Amino acid sequence: MRRVASAHEIPAGTAKPFRVRGHEVLICNVDGEFSAIEDVCTHDGAALDQGELSGHCIVCPRHGATFDVRTGAVLALPAVIPLRTYGLRLDGDDILIDL
Ligand code: FES
Repeated sequence: MRRVASAHEIPAGTAKPFRVRGHEVLICNVDGEFSAIEDVCTHDGAALDQGELSGHCIVCPRHGATFDVRTGAVLALPAVIPLRTYGLRLDGDDILIDL
């Protein structure tokens, strides 16, 4: 696992993008629960960090597809392919990603 960020950098209800080994990764904090998804919409490649995070849902800024940031599942069209997710572990304040 690779250290990517400090947990305090990403307050609850926010998400922050990182580039890790050539991957665009979005780390999300939903009520203190962290998750990591690919920061590239599966519909047409928009950066999801420009979209709105509401609870565990993130809405793509380009055409409005919605994904579950915990699982990558599609919750609303036009995307039909789930987002890639990355294993994440907290070690104290360090956020470690499986990449
Ligand atoms: S690029 Fe995200 S919904 Fe189209």
